[in-house]
Amino acid sequence: MDLDQLLSKHLTRYFDPGKTIPEETLQQLLRFLRSTPSSVNVQPNHFYVLATPEGKERLATNLGERFRDNAEKILNASHTIILTTRADLPDSHLEAVFDKERADGRFPDAAKQELWESMTRDFLSLRTYGYKDLNHWMEKQTYLAMGLTMMAAAELGVEATPLEGFDPTSVDKAFKIRESGRTTTVLLALGYPDPERVYTTPISRFDADQLFTFM
Ligand SMILES: Cc1cc2nc3c(=O)[nH]c(=O)nc-3n(C[C@H](O)[C@H](O)[C@H](O)COP(=O)(O)O)c2cc1C
Repeated sequence: MDLDQLLSKHLTRYFDPGKTIPEETLQQLLRFLRSTPSSVNVQPNHFYVLATPEGKERLATNLGERFRDNAEKILNASHTIILTTRADLPDSHLEAVFDKERADGRFPDAAKQELWESMTRDFLSLRTYGYKDLNHWMEKQTYLAMGLTMMAAAELGVEATPLEGFDPTSVDKAFKIRESGRTTTVLLALGYPDPERVYTTPISRFDADQLFTFM
């Protein structure tokens, strides 16, 4: 990955419909996505990986009336991932996280695991009853996973464009997402740019002195 090149680059709006991410590269990217961290290891996500024309078509035709512009991006992208997040956090989910941590041997001894579980429950109680932002907080974890995956995609030479332009009710319905206790947070289109339609103008960002305070 060439960081200097990345920092002056527009996100891809026009994908080349003739190019597909090689299976090995896709699997590597998904392994990376699976490995991304979340606060207290809450892992609130499920990812729908749309690889077939039917899957992409289903998403493209269910973005909602005002978001039709994004349909072409999805249809021309090699793959699009629907990143979904839990709408709530039932105890069964938490138990599943702890069971998996035990099975994976995350902590060297049972006492440490128990301490961790009680700290996690404490923190989640604070989010639920104190900050009252449990769902918003879980969606932040989703954005972190997406951001890291965008960087991993760049490393693999794959373009990754996040899409917030969609109606979550419509997408959830089309993929029966709410039936699993989750809702769509954001989409990530993946593929290769159409060389005829790459933006060549400079990107526009605030100057460094407006962004950074050194103390
Ligand atoms: C979280 C996120 C969501 C975005 N959603 C869309 C989208 O739905 N459709 C779209 O065309 N661009 C989308 N973009 C692209 C931004 O509009 C774009 O990155 C921004 O205007 C800066 O333009 P540049 O990447 O060309 O410099 C999204 C970008 C981010 C980071």
